[in-house]
Order: sequence, then structure tokens, then C-alpha cells
Amino acid sequence: MLILGIDTSCDDTSAAVVEDGDRIISNIVSGQADTHAKYGGIVPELASRMHIERIMPVVDEALRSAGISLKDLSAVAVCHGPGLIGSLLIGCSFAKAVCYAAGIPLVAVNHLEGHLLSAFLEEPKPEFPFLSLVVSGGHTSLYAATDYGQYRELGRTRDDAAGEAYDKVSKILGLGYPGGPVIDRLAAEGDPGAIDFPRAYLPESLDFSFSGLKTAVLNFVRRQGAGAGRAGKTEAREALEPRLIRDIAASFQSAVIDVLVRKTEAALQQQGLTRVVLSGGVSANSGLRKAMIEMCRQKNIGVFIPSIALCTDNAAMIAAAGYHRFAKGECAGPGLNPKPYLPL
Ligand code: KG4
Ligand code: ZN
Repeated sequence: MLILGIDTSCDDTSAAVVEDGDRIISNIVSGQADTHAKYGGIVPELASRMHIERIMPVVDEALRSAGISLKDLSAVAVCHGPGLIGSLLIGCSFAKAVCYAAGIPLVAVNHLEGHLLSAFLEEPKPEFPFLSLVVSGGHTSLYAATDYGQYRELGRTRDDAAGEAYDKVSKILGLGYPGGPVIDRLAAEGDPGAIDFPRAYLPESLDFSFSGLKTAVLNFVRRQGAGAGRAGKTEAREALEPRLIRDIAASFQSAVIDVLVRKTEAALQQQGLTRVVLSGGVSANSGLRKAMIEMCRQKNIGVFIPSIALCTDNAAMIAAAGYHRFAKGECAGPGLNPKPYLPL
């Protein structure tokens, strides 16, 4: 069974063809980072306009490289939230039109379920039950996953998501958008013990908090005499020694990783689970991948982390999640509306 997946939740226009929920036939992602980088973050109106321009060629390319046409599809799965309302609207409207024209069913997929199930697109696949840590630009949550569609949230961020903290710290340091990949790269050359940034462990809870850490970085940078931090004011890169920027990146990253790994360990223990699935854009982070694998090795826990292209936003994960919804007969109608704050 072939499903066309579509994701336009944020700043990536993506379409994919997936067979039987776990075999990627094509997976096309057209990113917009270069456009948004000028503004230090995503400009929602620009994102929607670029989705409009790109959705048709991206879907065409997904079908063409899969060597199929619309008549070969069993359904279209589209991400209907959470995400930016204008961006989601483009994907949803386009998917509805394709389904109407081809006379095939439409399936609505939660973006977070897509991330959570992305590990099923590769071998070895995890088995239920497992602990899922979804860590992206918009979310940082722990779930107990007991079956397809059966997810219980154990904890979530109370303020910034981890990816959001990466992007904001990058802006403070004048390193551009998105912040994750550049901080990851600089951190590898810096000293993670150079600056003792705070770690919010929130004892007794599996929730996260990253805004205090972000503010600590901002205050540290200001104390160095660099007037960074306000929108557009990114003199830090010029005012700070490159060595210090690398140490700030490494120390910040080490604080984020410590909290993510320690909380995952606590959740595993609390739930008596023996498998972890790590996904979402921040799971592309080299330090986090290493630290999570090491913790799991020590505790004899099975760990599943998708390859980088499946960690960040992609439509293959939407098609995969859509397959399991479709198998249960969960189809959407032409009245489907995007929901920016859709919970999982
Ligand atoms: O999952 P994703 O592509 O989109 C959302 O659903 O939010 O995640 C994007 C986030 C951004 O905040 C970006 O800075 C972060 O993932 N990211 C990383 C890395 N690559 C992307 N964060 C840390 N290290 C990375 N290597
Ligand atoms: Zn995402």
C-alpha cells in the first residue's frame, strides 16, 4: 500500500511516498533556512508564501522519484498540526485537493506522532512498549508509547523547547538560524566545563525547562561586554573571542544534554521501560546522540535514533504515521482544518 505524506508544519516543504508504513520510496524536503536566517528566526508569513510556491514541485518530485502517479496511491496523509497556521493551511488545502481529484482518502496526522514513529522507517525497528523523547524546535516531551496511537505524555517543557533554546542562544551569539547545527559544530571544539550554566532538573517531575539556561547565556554574554541579545543586535560574534564562543556553545550544549539524558533515565526507571526512541530535530545533535547511547549502554537499555534526515522534519514520518491511522479506518473529510496547537 502506497501512501503520499505531506508536511508543511513549519519551514520545510516535504512530500514522501512510503510503502506499507515503513519502506521509504521517496522523501523530498525543501528547506527555507536561508530565507529565514536573515531575520534570525522563522517569519511565518514568508514560510507560508514559500510553501505555496514549492508544494506542487515537491509533491511532483516525490511521485516522480518514486516512479508512480496519483492513481497508484491508496491515500494521502497530511500533517494538520501542531505548527504554524499559515504553513499548515497550505499542506492541508493541497492534500484535500489531491484527494478530491484522485478520488482517494485523506488521513490527518499529528506532527508529533510523525516524529515519534520516525524510528520505524529504519532497521532495527523498536518494539512497543518504549519511552519516546521528542525533542524539536517546538516541543520537548517524554511519552510512554504502548502501541500505534497509544501515547501517554509523562513530561513536557514548561517554557522553551530545547531546539528553541538552541535557536535563541545562536541568535544571542550572532550565529544565525537554525542554531542547532552551528552550535553542535562549535561545541565539538569547545570546553563543555568552561562555564557552569544552570541545569533545571525540576525534581519530582518529568517536565523540562530551558528558558533559565537561555537567560543565563544571555547574561553571561552581556557580562563580557557584548551587547547581544535584543532582536537584530548580534554583535557578540565580533565582540567575543572565537575561543570563548566555542566554550559558550560547548557549555550550553552540555547543560541541555545533561538534562535531556538524566530525565530520560528517570522516566525509564519510573515506567520500568527498557527501550528508548529519540526523535525530532534536536536528536540530530551529535553530543546528544552520543550521551544517550552511552547512558543506554550502561543501563542495558535498547536505544533507537533515526538517521539525521529522519530526525528533522520530513514527510516520510507523516506517511508512516498515516498508514497506521488509515489501517484503523481513521480518515478525514474535506472539512479538515489545521490546528496549530494540536496535542498528541
Ligand atoms: O523537528 P524539527 O526539524 O522541526 C520542528 O518540528 O520544530 O526541529 C528543528 C529544530 C531547530 O530548533 C534546530 O535548531 C534543531 O531542531 N536542530 C538541532 C540540530 N539540528 C537541528 N539542534 C541541536 N543540534 C543539531 N545538530
Ligand atoms: Zn518537527
